[in-house]
Amino acid sequence: MTTSILVEKKKLAKPPLDIRYLGDRVLRQPAKRIATVDEDIRRTIVAMLQTMYSADGIGLAAPQVGIHKQLIVIDCELDKPEIPPLILINPTIKKYGKTFCKDQEGCLSIPGVYLDVERPETIEVAYKDESGRPRTLKADGLLARAIQHELDHLSGVLFVDRVENELALTEELKKKGFSLQHVQHINPGVK
Ligand code: NI
Repeated sequence: MTTSILVEKKKLAKPPLDIRYLGDRVLRQPAKRIATVDEDIRRTIVAMLQTMYSADGIGLAAPQVGIHKQLIVIDCELDKPEIPPLILINPTIKKYGKTFCKDQEGCLSIPGVYLDVERPETIEVAYKDESGRPRTLKADGLLARAIQHELDHLSGVLFVDRVENELALTEELKKKGFSLQHVQHINPGVK
């Protein structure tokens, strides 16, 4: 059975879901595994995609819209309507590459804040797709980064927790009206 999810890559005047922002406790709560991929989940996926496209984002995790489920939508090809988004249910990273790279990240839950984060350059992720089929994917570049960023959301981790440049972090958050007290630093020695 193939259940493709078709959502137009466009902005809606009224996106179906509200995005939660840094400081909202919902973002810090771990997400639960999805037992069955049913119509209810597929409706949530459609609403998440519409919300993500409306906000011009390339990734959205369910906790960002107050849903405590292990569900992620990603689309690194916003300008290509023919390329379907990536939907990851119950994702786990099976393998990390040995090399790390640093690049700028942003997050729909921390709008306007862009900072460098170091992460493994390549990953292998196991997940279920929107039909409930088990799959694995090897990713690098922007996609690998997006997957790791979104997976962090499922365990209540935000990209600002991983920023090592404390000065830049403080300044960027302040500029955009966010508080440093909502950052939960991750020990940079633990990777
Ligand atoms: Ni994010």
